[in-house]
Amino acid sequence: MKKFHACLLLSLLLFSAPVQGQVGFPKIYANAAVVSATQEASDAGIEIIRQGGNAVDAAVAVKFALAVTFPAAGNLGGGGFLVLRSADGSVHTLDFREMAPLAAHRDMYLDENGDVIDGLSTFGHLASGVPGTVDGMITALDRFGTLPLEVVMEPAIRLARDGFRLSWREAAALNRGRDRFAQFEGSRQYFTKADGSDFTEGELFVQADLARTLQRIADEGRDGFYAGETADLMVREMQENGGIFTHEDLANYRSVWREPLQVQYRDYTVHLMGPPSSGGIAIGQMLQKLEPYNLERMGYNSPETVHLITEVSRRVYADRAEFLGDPDFYDVPRAELLTPAYNRDRMRSFDPSRATPSAEVSHGNPVAASESWNTTHFSVVDNDGNAVSLTTTLNSGYGSFVSITGGGFLMNNEMDDFSIKPGVPNQFGLLGGEANAVEPGKRMLSSMTPTIVTRDGRLEMVLGTPGGSTIMTTVLQVFLNIAEFGMNVQQAVAAPRFHHQWMPDRLYFEPYTFNKATRDRLEWYGHELSPRRFYTGQANCIVVDEGGRIQTGADPRGMNHAAGF
Ligand code: DON
Repeated sequence: MKKFHACLLLSLLLFSAPVQGQVGFPKIYANAAVVSATQEASDAGIEIIRQGGNAVDAAVAVKFALAVTFPAAGNLGGGGFLVLRSADGSVHTLDFREMAPLAAHRDMYLDENGDVIDGLSTFGHLASGVPGTVDGMITALDRFGTLPLEVVMEPAIRLARDGFRLSWREAAALNRGRDRFAQFEGSRQYFTKADGSDFTEGELFVQADLARTLQRIADEGRDGFYAGETADLMVREMQENGGIFTHEDLANYRSVWREPLQVQYRDYTVHLMGPPSSGGIAIGQMLQKLEPYNLERMGYNSPETVHLITEVSRRVYADRAEFLGDPDFYDVPRAELLTPAYNRDRMRSFDPSRATPSAEVSHGNPVAASESWNTTHFSVVDNDGNAVSLTTTLNSGYGSFVSITGGGFLMNNEMDDFSIKPGVPNQFGLLGGEANAVEPGKRMLSSMTPTIVTRDGRLEMVLGTPGGSTIMTTVLQVFLNIAEFGMNVQQAVAAPRFHHQWMPDRLYFEPYTFNKATRDRLEWYGHELSPRRFYTGQANCIVVDEGGRIQTGADPRGMNHAAGF
């Protein structure tokens, strides 16, 4: 619980600035659009599409440009998930999630009394899984891209070598991290100033070692990262500082094309990432539980709607804790969890006038019913109608705070997404058990939920957000804002959000989400309200309207930026 609050505090530090940017109106493009966390990255994607690239070429360009211009989450040293819908209607999902090193074991974060050692899974060299980003981008490009790797990586290399101008937000976040960066040689070099002074808005930020690493990848492909000089630098950094990575871990890493999940909600078909993301199953379960209700009539953020969605979320997160983990290691009952009859049955205990205490809610029994800060999300649609929805992360902001000395990039702290001890919440307050225990070579469970929605076979929405455990409830609310409450995509991402995750038994909400009457009513139902003084998620989404126009929603909670033509 302490850790959950620490994470909320981190989000507060990173995202406590006032809402800025356009709040009500989408930017509209005729041909192609990218919405991502930085202007430079969105522009890089559009540059590649203008050169004749497709959405996958653009996504790879955006991803590498984010690794340069958004160090808190953009990452070479992390992982993520990609959902692609080709213009021919086929859907593909790529898992480039990190893996536990081969020397990892289930009790590695516990002391001799079996107690969790505070911070070990979140900070420093033991916190990292084997990174998947570079393999993922190359795998996606090889199969679906049209341009060479060195072409799509060119904008990123340029931005690292020649520098980019720091936003006030990035400068402030780096300054707040100074003491933690200073504890690791590489991070001290790359992310603090030698004289201890502050980074300032507009300052040129050059990353020469990162540019060289990117160049090696552009020249040698996978081997530019998982072998040769970059691999030597990673293994040395880890082994000299108490980490457990080996060359074998790096050589073994492979991203995996997984079978996409598909859920029907009214006339929408929602395409989602399966495990090891919990997001796809969670959104599917939520939609199956919500479908019998008339949300449109209940009204946007009315007490009845908030109560219903909260009770749905509570039950879904309880299932997540029990049943979800890496499908290569644990038999996730995905078909059973996504059975409408099972989900309707789980709502039998729903009382429209009373909150169900979380202590009384456990996971369901899907088999018997027989029959899923700092992360970043971007969305791309190209002129042929291909769409990419990609969420990627180092886990919390700047990951483990360890940079690879000589390599110029930060490492993830994704190991904390495993259940490091049954019953002990991770930094997002999420619980887990056997399904998500640490095992060598296993992928840690994720909440990242890149999503694509079609209707009558037509691309309609590209959705996603960061936010740890709040990702699924945010994606759900953005979807419902559009599908049920008549908002355009910019309004849908800007609208205030709420969140409940079963444990802790609290209904969190952003500033200005509920008026006094709604709060009173929610308390009368029995919900424990927990106002957040900061923001939930950064949803960067796209809607293609019936006229084929591409409408963008850049979340005003950050420096998110839509570009297009
Ligand atoms: O994969 C996950 O679920 C987490 N590592 C995501 C972390 C995250 O979104 C933090 N961002 N705010």
